[in-house]
Amino acid sequence: MGKIIKNFSEYQQQYSSSIKNPEGFWDEIAENHFWRTKWEKTLEWRFDGEGSPEVKWFINGKLNITENIFERNYHEKKNQVAIIWEPNNPEEEAIRITYHELFEKVKQFANALLKTGVKKGDTVAIYLPMVPELVIAMLACARIGAIHSIIFAGFSATSLADRILDASSKILITADGGFRGSKEIPLKKIADDALSDCPVVEKAIVLKRTDEDVPMKEGRDIWWHDLIKSVGSDNEAAEMDSEDTLFILYTSGSTGKPKGILHTTGGYMVYAEYTFKNVFQYSEGDIYWCTADIGWITGHSYIAYGPLLAGATIVMFEGIPTWPDAGRFWQIVEKYKVNQFYTAPTAIRSLMAKGSEWVKKYNLDSLKVLGTVGEPIDEDAWNWYHDIVGNNRCPIVDTWWQTETGGIMISPLAGITPIKPSYATLPLPGIQPALVDPEGNEIMGNNVEGILCVKFPWPGMMRTIYGDHKRCFDTYFSLFKGLYLTGDAAKRDADGFYRIIGRIDDVINVSGHRIGTAEIEDVINLHPLVNESAVVGYPHDIKGSGIYAYVFCANLFDKEPELLEKEIKAIVNVFIGPIAKPDKIQVVSELPKTRSGKIMRRILRKIGEGDATNLGDISTLLNPAIVDEIIKGAKVVVRK
Ligand code: PRX
Repeated sequence: MGKIIKNFSEYQQQYSSSIKNPEGFWDEIAENHFWRTKWEKTLEWRFDGEGSPEVKWFINGKLNITENIFERNYHEKKNQVAIIWEPNNPEEEAIRITYHELFEKVKQFANALLKTGVKKGDTVAIYLPMVPELVIAMLACARIGAIHSIIFAGFSATSLADRILDASSKILITADGGFRGSKEIPLKKIADDALSDCPVVEKAIVLKRTDEDVPMKEGRDIWWHDLIKSVGSDNEAAEMDSEDTLFILYTSGSTGKPKGILHTTGGYMVYAEYTFKNVFQYSEGDIYWCTADIGWITGHSYIAYGPLLAGATIVMFEGIPTWPDAGRFWQIVEKYKVNQFYTAPTAIRSLMAKGSEWVKKYNLDSLKVLGTVGEPIDEDAWNWYHDIVGNNRCPIVDTWWQTETGGIMISPLAGITPIKPSYATLPLPGIQPALVDPEGNEIMGNNVEGILCVKFPWPGMMRTIYGDHKRCFDTYFSLFKGLYLTGDAAKRDADGFYRIIGRIDDVINVSGHRIGTAEIEDVINLHPLVNESAVVGYPHDIKGSGIYAYVFCANLFDKEPELLEKEIKAIVNVFIGPIAKPDKIQVVSELPKTRSGKIMRRILRKIGEGDATNLGDISTLLNPAIVDEIIKGAKVVVRK
């Protein structure tokens, strides 16, 4: 069903037909879905010109994505397990939820949302740990046509408030707390702090998870279990237009506050299911596990929508890879006989550092496919994953994509595309990548490197930045006319295979989390002693990129540098969250600036990397002498 590619020549055939006739190609795939009214036209698009980008797929088609998860597959899938939920604490009992049970719970919670006053088109903020209710809440929103805006439960109160306010969410769904390894995260307390700045929020629905005693605000807060008590599960899905918004998901850019990336219903649905089935080669009866958090796009597309649309059985894990010990992932793979396993290079590196014994303790024979996502994977980690975890017999799908792309763009198809360490290999059918030079000229041929762009729309792509269409154009479509700018550089080797080199802007991937350096600087600058700061990424063995902050304080007023560092870390923790805490902080007597006042980040980046051998031209600096001073005080050994 739905053009599942079974060998490499089929891939080549599908790829070429998807380029020759994109509309026909996607029409045929979309036909496998349940549409209340079929679309009238497949595609309208413009990457350039007034009001662009403008991208519409399956125009005037009417549907509901949850009808495609539940009603469409009901007869075959009713009694099949949809979610195997593995709690943080291995002593706690796992939960298995069938498609029928999930359907009932989604409809019931959809009714509960309606009862709370949520209407089609409203935005609902969701700030939950990795519990089944997170999937139930997101699908319930989709069921009634509300837009979900899921905020990763590791974000701070300020980040949560910013996202609630930006999306004007009237409802927040949260929990008393969440478990992560040995820690208990006080989610309700953080949410209360956030809500004190968010008068727009009328109701907060609170799930009991940790049983922590939490204050409930009269008239605003309501327990999840109380809310659903008197609510039935008869619910007819809202009819959505193909281009109605399905969700907003915030992500970082190189400037300013995080952007609410907006995805719509029809195209996203078609793309999430197609890419899931083809990349992972999921077959009936397989157990699929993606270790991401649903607070990120990977969780949206490849824990929830893609697999559930495909009727897969998924494992959903509440905890972390290293608790209670470094064998946890492998213990879970053994316990559920996981067939497809999808994780981030940062997890692979951290587990590799703990030693192969942890892997070898468990029987991983069930594994058929290994996946990675979120950042470049170096050859060592790739080889370890392939040889030790996959026992030399499982293909690795190194999947390159982004929050903005909605689904996987460049990746091997498991067992079909030849694989090569650290290569994302080939574009999926329908995807037309281009490498361009800094002037925007396409670089043709192979054995080349350039800025990775995409020339033609695909159904899963974002449509806009919520509330700021101009920013969407400026960020992604203005640098090179008519091209979607990904922000990554890539190499195309002699075989035409792509290897992602990394970001070309001020965005860094820290432990697979995407963070804008400007966001961290803005927060560091809130410290009363800090006048200015510059944050760069540097290579980090486990995290991929570490965070290096250079701070300039005109006067330290006898403050001990260690104390200042501690305070800066605390501020970042409070305003963004632990993921953005700098690893290294260097107080400098001046930042290297050009005469026009621009910080020369390239120099700071090189120093942070421990390499000052080729700093390029520094003669345009206002004070070139500062470079040596910064090198001397660097928190790394710098080669000169
Ligand atoms: O730099 C690329 C990196 O992650 C960025 C997108 O981050 P985000 O929107 O948070 O989505 C992550 C999950 C899809 C990209 O611009 N990235 C993602 N996948 C890969 C990657 N870098 C190298 N190889 C990958 N497979």
